[in-house]
Amino acid sequence: MKGRRAAPVRRDYGARRSSWGRGVRLTEPTFDPFLYAHEHRREVAWLSQNTNHLVPPEVVQPALIAAIRDRLYEGYPLASGQIGLKELVLADLGLPSTTATIISAGATEALYMALRALLHAGDVVLASDPSYLIIHKFIQLAGATTRELDIYAPPYKLTAGSLSEAITPHTRMILLIDPLNPLGSGYSKDEVRAIAEVAHDHRLLLLNDVTYRDFADSHTLARTFYPERTLTAWSVSKNCGLAGLRLGGMVGPDDLIKEALRYNTNDLGVNVLAQVAAAAGLSTKSQWFAAVRATTRANQERIRDLVQSLPEVTLPVFPSQANMFVIDLAAAGVAPADLQRELLLTHGVFVRAGNYLSATHGGRFVRVSFSNPPADIDRFLQAFPVALKKLRKNEGVAPSSAPAAAGRA
Ligand SMILES: Cc1ncc(COP(=O)(O)O)c(C=O)c1O
Repeated sequence: MKGRRAAPVRRDYGARRSSWGRGVRLTEPTFDPFLYAHEHRREVAWLSQNTNHLVPPEVVQPALIAAIRDRLYEGYPLASGQIGLKELVLADLGLPSTTATIISAGATEALYMALRALLHAGDVVLASDPSYLIIHKFIQLAGATTRELDIYAPPYKLTAGSLSEAITPHTRMILLIDPLNPLGSGYSKDEVRAIAEVAHDHRLLLLNDVTYRDFADSHTLARTFYPERTLTAWSVSKNCGLAGLRLGGMVGPDDLIKEALRYNTNDLGVNVLAQVAAAAGLSTKSQWFAAVRATTRANQERIRDLVQSLPEVTLPVFPSQANMFVIDLAAAGVAPADLQRELLLTHGVFVRAGNYLSATHGGRFVRVSFSNPPADIDRFLQAFPVALKKLRKNEGVAPSSAPAAAGRA
């Protein structure tokens, strides 16, 4: 991976001409950062999706190669998950091997199933703003709504007090993403306990998404305090660096998992190679994750040092308990979508504009992830001040209207 990156060749991803009415006029720009970044994948420093590029390839590649040689892909996998995988997932979470578990194509699929099955029209889910909005979209698909509590101010997370105040007779669930995408806020054991108690006292469902838990200094599963009604969404996308293979799932009480499985469309099981890779990653994670975490922390400290040296940008949350955080640009007067585009097209550095993560505050920040080789961070550190300065100079230039593409991490 090292040494192969250079700023990509710039192509014309500008506005498209089309006929409209009598004359020819410019339509909205058609720039799609994901299309561009995938087209230039080998040259781009990918800091936009919280993916983990630090797991040694030896962890999963031999297992994948052996599975391919064995032509495991010819048959359907065991629908409930390949033999031994469920036990590895549960051991990794510190749970008994009898705990009910969904193994799905990423946590995303299990989240969809559970929310479709357990929520109904009129239900309200308490969640945060900013947040990982794909989950909010699934809530809406179930006919329910989210009440998004504004957490873009200290302590930058939900509290038992703010949640209690927001509860009404329609409240059915609390969404607790810990650590939180995008801010990187984490919850202490006492904070998790207090939130679980609120859920318990009001007989609410508690959805605890722990996708980033391995990056945190310490982590407590909410189900520790409220096992009867807590669903825990887990994933190997970020901890094991397997986002492209799509494997994750959910654990919870028997009755809720059974309900959720009613919406399982992957009746014939999920990708067998993903399962093999997940087993290889989970069974060895204790040997290599400390190094991943150390590099991730060093990377975020280097970015923090840069941000501190620039007068008009700030880091709301530091240290992040995940592998990403947000950089607030509001005082610089630079639009996140413009910065995203400039960093990508001119410097080959892919970060994420905030509008994908918050309707209210998304116009203030970019999200940057940093479980990457230090060379990618070097590239970011070099590019960010240059791009910021250029955009501040161009204050008169019409801002990019690159849309937030839903459905991407
Ligand atoms: C909070 C959260 N949950 C779930 C996911 C998706 O997980 P998976 O890749 O396992 O579908 C993401 C991806 O970014 C995420 O941020």
